[in-house]
Amino acid sequence: LGDGPLKGRCAIVTSGPTHEPIDPVRYIANRSSGAQGTAIARALMSLGADVTFVTGPASHPVPSGVNVVPVQTASEMLAAVEDALPADVAIFAAAVADWHVANAGDSKIKKDGKGLPSIELAENPDILAIVSQLKKNRPELVIGFAAETDDVIENATSKRKRKACDWILANDVSPETGIMGGSENAVTLIHNSGADVWPRMTKDQVATRLAHAIVDHLGATE
Ligand code: C5P
Repeated sequence: LGDGPLKGRCAIVTSGPTHEPIDPVRYIANRSSGAQGTAIARALMSLGADVTFVTGPASHPVPSGVNVVPVQTASEMLAAVEDALPADVAIFAAAVADWHVANAGDSKIKKDGKGLPSIELAENPDILAIVSQLKKNRPELVIGFAAETDDVIENATSKRKRKACDWILANDVSPETGIMGGSENAVTLIHNSGADVWPRMTKDQVATRLAHAIVDHLGATE
């Protein structure tokens, strides 16, 4: 443990969904098993990296041998990522909720027959964009994901520019691919000089391939 080409490198991986409370018993969230983020954390650890795994409430068991920071909301996730800096590489695999409930209640909303409650949404911080645009302590390599259903490369390329991250792993999540919730992924790595289409493979294989691409970029420490 701790030996390998990433020995002495620090990595941050976000994973899973975030839960944004409506009241103490209800929440809004995106679908995410945490499988891809977990596989990435494990792959980086097995190459020797010191990994901080910031995870929302996911069904997938957390990897052992990494520093696990459990969070619920997007703003907690942002704070946990900021606490984990500085790092050499940060990978944002979490399916962060785009909004939180601005008028979330401290007590359970009652079904009192006086009409439906209304939920007011407010934007969540974009953790990937914030970290990519840090002036101080920006990781050398910042990697995001883009789940797209059409014009995958085009949309992911503009997302990379908009967020100012280094790489985007774009995946086609149209229903007919069966990727959402499955064990395989079809990924295109978008970087500043183009796109590498990877063959369809398991999420573990995607993680291993990504970890080796990270080694190639950062350089091996041993
Ligand atoms: O904008 P979109 O949600 O498609 O971007 C996806 C990428 O941005 C993922 O890497 C995701 O983890 C990250 N993200 C984030 N914070 C948000 C929304 C997305 O870090 N609030």
